[in-house]
Amino acid sequence: MEKTLAIIKPDAVESKNVGKILTRIEAEGFRVVAFKRHRISKTQAESFYGEHRAKGFFGSLVAYMTSGPVYVAVLERENGVAHWRSVMGATDPAKADAGTIRREFGQSIERNAAHGSADAADASREVTFFFSQAELI
Ligand code: RTP
Ligand code: MG
Repeated sequence: MEKTLAIIKPDAVESKNVGKILTRIEAEGFRVVAFKRHRISKTQAESFYGEHRAKGFFGSLVAYMTSGPVYVAVLERENGVAHWRSVMGATDPAKADAGTIRREFGQSIERNAAHGSADAADASREVTFFFSQAELI
């Protein structure tokens, strides 16, 4: 079993799609190990997305991720990291396959409804970023 970190981003919370996304997560066979509503601070967003610091969209990404509450989750499943990314779809909702979360709920390449860890090492860093060991049940 492999853990991954998911974030239901501010646009999906604002548009009241949290329940639908959680239903999809369960239907995909993930075990929800941890789940909480959270308001990401500017410092946290800058650190979490630090790999994108030099990119033109960085400031806008930080503003967006701190614009409203999110839900952060630790999901567990066989091949969990890759499976969650395939369920989310491509970064740009316009290019995401039909039936993916970003295609269904995303609004733009930035406001794209969900986050998923890129690989196992990233997942481990991201889970620890948001959750203490005692919260992983
Ligand atoms: P994520 O990390 O959120 O799961 O998304 P990802 O791997 O599919 O894409 P990544 O390249 O890591 O980009 C992180 C987030 O930055 C925003 N973005 N905006 N304006 C743009 O061109 C642009 N490109 C990326 C998106 O919110 C993306 O998910
Ligand atoms: Mg990424």
